[in-house]
Amino acid sequence: MYKIPAKTLFIGKNIIYVPECHSTNDVASQLNSSLIGSEGTVVITDSQLAGRGQKNNQWLSEPGKNLTFSLILVPSFLNIQDQFKLTIASSLAVYDSITHLTLSHCHIKWPNDILLHGKKVCGILLESSISGGRFLKVIVGIGLNINQQNFTLPSATSLSLVSKKQFELPEVLEFLLEKLEVRYLQVKQQQWKSLLNDYLCVLWQRDERQRFFAHGMEFGGIIRGIDPIGQLQIETDEGYRYFNTKEIEYRM
Ligand code: BTN
Repeated sequence: MYKIPAKTLFIGKNIIYVPECHSTNDVASQLNSSLIGSEGTVVITDSQLAGRGQKNNQWLSEPGKNLTFSLILVPSFLNIQDQFKLTIASSLAVYDSITHLTLSHCHIKWPNDILLHGKKVCGILLESSISGGRFLKVIVGIGLNINQQNFTLPSATSLSLVSKKQFELPEVLEFLLEKLEVRYLQVKQQQWKSLLNDYLCVLWQRDERQRFFAHGMEFGGIIRGIDPIGQLQIETDEGYRYFNTKEIEYRM
């Protein structure tokens, strides 16, 4: 059903399709590291019964309408404090794919939500296992809304809702896996400046004054970028402040 991408070196050369599962991230993390669970393996399903999102949220996706899959990476070359570079690479890969497929305006909301016309079209959940201070495995779980027409959350959208057409899921997957490999190889080849530059160019609300909530207080500030450990950099009246994902919320 899902095609092995023709143009990749290792990503998606092994695709494990399960019609239904709890969470593809869980299936991928349970694969042993020999052959089947090796770097580039993709676990994909039509229906997740317990899809997981960031901050212990659920990830809901109408069965058969969207892409819900997990990619196994083995970034043994990467320091564990640099995991955020994979966050950036994977979000850029999704960004690249969506802009190509829809020709629509798309942004990355820090750290890795993909917004299409200001609404969330894709979420990414990275989960890693570490041993001896090195990565054993990083699972990149991607939920990309494609043909779903109705959402309970008004802040969610799909490629189809925006571009008013239906997409072939295998074709979108093939394209996305190619982009994931290109961006992952940029991390591996230490092309960090280029990745960061691409990320900052499409970072949602960068250089705009917005309201935020952190440490029990609401405050105004301007997103300027990220720091060397991937924290959000906000310029406030008191100077620059830096936040990790657990500390800060956006206020609309
Ligand atoms: C988010 O909250 O924005 C992240 C959502 C990630 C959802 C994907 S769907 C495939 C993979 N399996 C999961 O259980 N979660 C991720």
